[in-house]
Amino acid sequence: MDISHHTVLVSGGASGIGSALAARFHKAGNKVIICGRRADMLRDMQSKHPGIDAYECDLSEPDTRVAFVDKIVREHPALDVLINNAGIQQRIDLTNNPAWEVMHREMAINLEAHIHMCTLLIPQLRKQEKPAILNVTSGLAFVPLAGVPVYCATKAAMHSFTQSLRHQLRETPIHVVEVIPPAVDTDLGGSGLHTFGVPLDEFADAAFAALRNEDHREVTYQFSSESSRASREQLDAIFERMNAPRR
Ligand SMILES: NC(=O)c1ccc[n+]([C@@H]2O[C@H](COP(=O)([O-])OP(=O)(O)OC[C@H]3O[C@@H](n4cnc5c(N)ncnc54)[C@H](OP(=O)(O)O)[C@@H]3O)[C@@H](O)[C@H]2O)c1
Repeated sequence: MDISHHTVLVSGGASGIGSALAARFHKAGNKVIICGRRADMLRDMQSKHPGIDAYECDLSEPDTRVAFVDKIVREHPALDVLINNAGIQQRIDLTNNPAWEVMHREMAINLEAHIHMCTLLIPQLRKQEKPAILNVTSGLAFVPLAGVPVYCATKAAMHSFTQSLRHQLRETPIHVVEVIPPAVDTDLGGSGLHTFGVPLDEFADAAFAALRNEDHREVTYQFSSESSRASREQLDAIFERMNAPRR
């Protein structure tokens, strides 16, 4: 995709992968808008990158999403790129009667919010010349890590949804890209839980470079290149390897 002169909304753009992509879009000459729940993180991002606009909001609430989209479309009529990046990851023991509210919290932001943001913003994006929707899924969309079962299910569902979205939008100018990270060293799921992942800047540089390629429908890196293209037999072997009991 053409990587400059856009107005880009990045959900969860004040930390981790969202902030790394937001910073790169900002540096490349795009108007960048970020949102998230933590005001201090949003302010910090704005002070590091003057010119970025930030909105404090909880996208897991449907009414909040409707009001938020209404507001940013009014305040940023040139908005033409939506990056659905916000997410959480929870360890859940399915054998121990986990609370529905806890599991639904994960579905509400990782899945419901992104599907709703797409449909709310398609009318706005259709009016633009070179619009795009980028959905951030995961290498775990293709093979689950069983300790984070709802997370993996939401990512598999977002992979499926992104394919249908791309198909339904094929006659429109809206380009649909799935960004499929491997494990990346961010605070996802809690501080220090992803230190085994790829360094954030390494992944963000590779992903941003790949986005410049007009033909890219899926942006993958290392493990996610492997999992997203694996055969059923290879996926079974990856599943066994990833979920083997620790000694
Ligand atoms: N790190 C990895 O290994 C990895 C691998 C594959 C895919 N991913 C995906 O990459 C995306 C970004 O994750 P990350 O690793 O960069 O972790 P992160 O730093 O924790 O980023 C998640 C972002 O989502 C925002 N967010 C969470 N709930 C929200 C809500 N209800 N409303 C609005 N914003 C919300 C958070 O901000 P607030 O808490 O301030 O709201 C935060 O900025 C996620 O979709 C994740 O699943 C990550």
